[in-house]
Amino acid sequence: MKETRTQFATRLGVIATTVGSAVGLGNIWRFPYEAGVHGGGAFLLIDLFFIFIIGVPVVCAEFIIGRHTGSNIRGAFRALAPGRQWGLVSYIGLCASVMILSFYSVVAGWTMHYTVKSIGGFSGVTTPEALHAQFDAFASSDIAPTAWTLIFLAVNYLILSRGVQKGIERMSNILMPMLFVILLLFTVNSLMMPGASDGLKFLFTPNFSEITPSVVLGAMGQAFFTLSLGLGCLITYSSYFKRETPLLRTSLITAGLDTLVAILAGIIIFPAVFTFGQEPATGPKLVFEVLPSIFANMGGGAIWSTLFFLLLFLASLTSTISMAEITIAYFEEEFGMKRKKATAISIAVSMVLGTLCALSFGSLGGVKLFGMTLFNLFDYTSSNILLPIGGMIISLFVGWVLDRSIVRGELLAGGGRITGWGVSTVVFCLRWLAPVCIGLVFVYGLNIF
Ligand code: PHE
Repeated sequence: MKETRTQFATRLGVIATTVGSAVGLGNIWRFPYEAGVHGGGAFLLIDLFFIFIIGVPVVCAEFIIGRHTGSNIRGAFRALAPGRQWGLVSYIGLCASVMILSFYSVVAGWTMHYTVKSIGGFSGVTTPEALHAQFDAFASSDIAPTAWTLIFLAVNYLILSRGVQKGIERMSNILMPMLFVILLLFTVNSLMMPGASDGLKFLFTPNFSEITPSVVLGAMGQAFFTLSLGLGCLITYSSYFKRETPLLRTSLITAGLDTLVAILAGIIIFPAVFTFGQEPATGPKLVFEVLPSIFANMGGGAIWSTLFFLLLFLASLTSTISMAEITIAYFEEEFGMKRKKATAISIAVSMVLGTLCALSFGSLGGVKLFGMTLFNLFDYTSSNILLPIGGMIISLFVGWVLDRSIVRGELLAGGGRITGWGVSTVVFCLRWLAPVCIGLVFVYGLNIF
């Protein structure tokens, strides 16, 4: 199996696909809404702590497992810890990937709908109130959001069934740089709004009185979600890395660019929130209600808006493809399925669950489990519980169980100026810091005792 596997062709390709997986709705949709609900600056600060102190080492751990074994998540653990329980973490990853793909596709469907709406200039609607009403009417209207969710998943099928490497790698190489340029343009535009200073104050001034254990749990979940971490996505992608790819450097670049995009998204959204007198704590609808108000009041708004939602859609696509790749590689390699069949099964399951998530804003809005709609339940459970548990198991495994020579060998391969010190620091974080922090956040955040 190993010889026939594809690899990412170039160094740029490795970065573009990995950053393509990391950068997506998590940065531009989820980060602003979570920060909005949880008091802005303090949330950002805790999120940064989790991304760089806990996230980066765990990203390295996934890379080490993936590249060393060149295998899907189940196969990777079987190769490294035959017959032992560690492999159970692959099932957590598979469940989490299906859940995330399902609710994420709903929001990606919204971006497709908004791309089309933008072309028509939001039917001439310009006031924030009317734009809100327009979004609410759309999101709660069963048929359209469900249809867009299914269309989005069908697009995933078309790309994935043909084999990702060439398509995805090439697509990411072009799209990711474009996304950065557009975001920078919007950032400049937002900074010139009357509400800019209030918005920036909200985003950058930490007000620790807002911080409760559950906010810390949310920030940890956001860090794992935005790095595509804890579910084996990076194990799967790094199984396509070459021997020369420097792992620590790649993880730092990914975390750095991913964070930059989230911060830019915050700088774009919060000044507009304050300029148009809106509420930062709106939740999942925030971006879709606030951004159209900016566009409506900008010269050439329809063009900017189309471009923005189109790029957001494409950024979502490079993320969902990486999620689906986890189950596809698993079905292909563990059950000897053909790529098309493996892709069809993965996408079909998410089509069913995605439909239920789309209806969570409409007819199924009253159906709640643990006080949450299915959409919120999938979002909350995957990010705040499954990904950190997965991350903790992966870091314990690489820190304590995996042969130290493998860890050293993988981290030092490809150069990237890492020294013995760097290796020891990563190992220390994996052995102690990450598991202890994740454990403490769970105990307090979920109020376990
Ligand atoms: N990191 C992606 C984002 O921020 C979401 C994602 C989660 C992708 C898990 C893959 C796996 O949008």
